[in-house]
Amino acid sequence: MCGIVAYIGPKDATPFLLEGLQRLEYRGYDSAGVAVTGKGAGLKVRKTKGRVADLAAAVPARFKGATGIGHTRWATHGEPSDANAHPHLDNAGRFAVVHNGIIENADQLRQKLVADGAVFGSETDTEVLVHLIAAHSGEGVELEEAVRAALALVVGTYGIAVLDAEQPDRLVVARNGSPIVLGLGEKEMFAASDVSALVRYTRQVVHLEDGELAVVRADGFRTFTEDARPTTRQPSTVDWEIDSYDTAGHAHFLIKEIHEQPAAVERTLSGRLDERFATAHLGGLNMDARELRDIRRVKIIGCGSAYYAGQMGAQLIEELARIPADSEPASEFRYRNPVIERDTLYIAVSQSGETYDTLAAVQEVKRKGGRVLGVVNTVGSAIARACDGGIYLHAGPEISVASTKAFTSTVVAFALLALHFGRINDLSPADGRRIVEALKALPGQIREVLEQEERIAELAAEYAHCEGMMFIGRVRGYPVAREGAQKLKEISYVHAEAYPASELKHGPLALISPELPTVALVPDDELLDKNLTTLGEIRARAGRVLAVAHTAPDPKFANHTLLVPRSEPELDPLLLNVPLQLFAYHAAVALERDVDKPRNLAKSVTVE
Ligand code: F6R
Repeated sequence: MCGIVAYIGPKDATPFLLEGLQRLEYRGYDSAGVAVTGKGAGLKVRKTKGRVADLAAAVPARFKGATGIGHTRWATHGEPSDANAHPHLDNAGRFAVVHNGIIENADQLRQKLVADGAVFGSETDTEVLVHLIAAHSGEGVELEEAVRAALALVVGTYGIAVLDAEQPDRLVVARNGSPIVLGLGEKEMFAASDVSALVRYTRQVVHLEDGELAVVRADGFRTFTEDARPTTRQPSTVDWEIDSYDTAGHAHFLIKEIHEQPAAVERTLSGRLDERFATAHLGGLNMDARELRDIRRVKIIGCGSAYYAGQMGAQLIEELARIPADSEPASEFRYRNPVIERDTLYIAVSQSGETYDTLAAVQEVKRKGGRVLGVVNTVGSAIARACDGGIYLHAGPEISVASTKAFTSTVVAFALLALHFGRINDLSPADGRRIVEALKALPGQIREVLEQEERIAELAAEYAHCEGMMFIGRVRGYPVAREGAQKLKEISYVHAEAYPASELKHGPLALISPELPTVALVPDDELLDKNLTTLGEIRARAGRVLAVAHTAPDPKFANHTLLVPRSEPELDPLLLNVPLQLFAYHAAVALERDVDKPRNLAKSVTVE
């Protein structure tokens, strides 16, 4: 949420800044801006409401400087506008700041700064930072000292990059709750909110820790804590492919990522299945079998789709390992003073590894002595580092705001965990083998679903103009319904509600009409007859039904059916979900929505 880029080196910073912002645009896209400087050149600044493309059009050819910072914004304080766009400047126009996060004591700081003569030009919390830095600067004061003094007064979260027209030989960046990654080049240095802006330029990166600052010069960097103690950071190598950051001929990142799912699942499974002992190996858990056997309960926490993937994970753990498990939104969990039990295993789920509510929930559990594992896609992210161990998804970078391949890989990771847990408890070798074989078959079966894209697109175009949609499923199908409804509403803006099919007659049946069709998950499992009864009730009230099933129900129960291959019943939800992703995508395309950048949203929600 909000993207930051920075460059210092022998070249002109502007092309990197604009390209980097383009790559970070999924983190926020309501306004964008850049500032550059050079020896004796003063500050040049351009910022605008709108997309990075609008900014690029507004930047003149002569806008050059060897040191620069840029920002793409997702509004928190103050509406999207030119004035509220970053960078923000002090009154003398010497310093420029870009910021991701929230300054909680901005109002108090602002009052004091105004009383001392600062004139504010925006409604943002960020602007206090630049006035504070200016207030702490002076003859002979190094930029890093002024920034450190300013940050000492701030309560809140930040990832920042700071430019000083009078010290153009350096940039200062700092992190507390919002990520900053340094990119190490040949006599040039980069910084960004995440590696997607850097990989075209360097694979050598350094992730700053919370509470850390860095002075970045063209020939190197120095890191230190907020109380000026030097720290040592070793670079790591990014192994994600560069073409993961391009649409590679697809119309949108979302459809590219939907089609990447077979490969993503293969990577999640890679090296982790043990056919001989019918189990899974998960080296990163940092827990031996004895410790795992002492676990009496599993509590999964995550936000949005990560929470729904956690629901599927909880069902897998209960079914395969017979350990009570449930999933809860991290944002609720952290505020309700949860009881933290020593024999409960807490599992945080996050694609980005940055979601603030999930991170705060992890910190709360750890503060109270609980053990937390992470199921995370982004290696080295804040949540991954805050956890005691876990499972990396290896799904590859997910750029589209709506999660698809990370969702699927998360559920696969939970299947591995449930299998491992089950086999050290009392899951039989035969059942273990059944799950191993089913997991191996998944990539091919996902491909089979993807081959139906044309038909799904036709149906999506037919249903897209409805008033709203109901998504229903029973037990294993219910989290699938929730994720299906979530995908549809977030990218197509069609209102969608998800209900357990069994609950329909307790209220929502009143909504059913020809204008409000139902997507029903109808696997061939022990609940098939119950599901068909519900479909009969909907059809009797003139409701239209699109069934997602293993075998087509009688036409009296469903107007249309999408068929998915059968897995093992425990893993069926994974395959039932894939047509719903394609359905949401093609409904959004039919309605001409901005699929990869849905309104009001951004990826990586680093604010509360
Ligand atoms: C929905 C979606 C969001 C995220 C949620 C958590 O498609 O993408 O609901 O799942 O914001 O994000 P992560 O997984 O990065 O913690």
